[in-house]
Amino acid sequence: MTSPPALRFENLSKIFGRGKKLVTAVQRVNLEVTAGQVYGFLGPNGAGKSTTIRMILDLIRPTHGEVFVNGRSVQQTHAALQQVGGMVENATFYPFLSGRKNLEVLARTGNYYDAARIDNLLTQVRLADRADHLVKGYSTGMKQRLGLAAALLNDPALVILDEPTNGLDPAGIQEMRTFIRTLVETQGKTVFLSSHLLSEVEQMCDRVAIIHQGQLVREGAVRELLSEQAYLQIEAEPLARATAVLQPTWTITESNAHSLTLLASRSDVPAIVRQLVANDIAIYQIRLSHQSLESFFLEVTGNHSEEQHHA
Ligand SMILES: Nc1ncnc2c1ncn2[C@@H]1O[C@H](COP(=O)(O)OP(=O)(O)O)[C@@H](O)[C@H]1O
Ligand SMILES: [Mg+2]
Repeated sequence: MTSPPALRFENLSKIFGRGKKLVTAVQRVNLEVTAGQVYGFLGPNGAGKSTTIRMILDLIRPTHGEVFVNGRSVQQTHAALQQVGGMVENATFYPFLSGRKNLEVLARTGNYYDAARIDNLLTQVRLADRADHLVKGYSTGMKQRLGLAAALLNDPALVILDEPTNGLDPAGIQEMRTFIRTLVETQGKTVFLSSHLLSEVEQMCDRVAIIHQGQLVREGAVRELLSEQAYLQIEAEPLARATAVLQPTWTITESNAHSLTLLASRSDVPAIVRQLVANDIAIYQIRLSHQSLESFFLEVTGNHSEEQHHA
């Protein structure tokens, strides 16, 4: 019997608000994360990453769908989260307690207090020398590292990290990456982390899912995605009908008055042509081109965010 995936989303959706102010933050995401890897959840700001992570950790309820950890539904049984540790965005600590005291409080609350383990974790995240200082005086990077220690308190098999390198300086980023790899490579854990930076995912992750406007637009091994990316530009009439026909199956990355562009590989072309012809759409031109994962990511997500201009 094969074991269930470490993490699985089934039709996971979250809609915020009501009436005219509905915000679809996450839309029917299906995903499987196999144990023993660093899995990247990549998307620009507002893509739905933190919302997804909150649903994994049962901090908010999905509107539809479910999260499974090792085959058990997080929404149906809290026991599913026993082997999970998480660090959410802007994790807050008691500012007037020390880093160590904060971890102690959390560990006691979760009923897994172990002084030696806390000591060990503080050393691992390089906070040993500042462990007894008040969190109030910690830098963003130190709080981020304390958050990581907090996520590891119960020695979880699955570690969920929301933008773990946010707020860290370049040396801190490097250190965090190395530490996360160690969790998987020498401690046998599975890490699921979010990021808005492609370069980061490239350097740290084995597999990646790209999320944009709440939808999964691409999933695969980082190495494979880096080598094959293709998109198809189609000039057709009427274009509105072509869009309607193709949208349910393909990810349309761009459209203008004459053409639309979608993600596809060469082997998809015949099926796309058949689909258009069957719907009585005239095709004037089809062009297939390859692009790097970087330009793909920028295109899909719109290269307007300042964080994407890296030095
Ligand atoms: N509590 C909330 N109420 C209403 N809208 C929300 C709430 N939380 C997040 N959103 C919206 O959901 C979308 C996804 O947000 P988020 O999951 O934080 O994205 P990311 O973490 O990828 O930057 C955004 O449009 C955001 O404004
Ligand atoms: Mg976020």
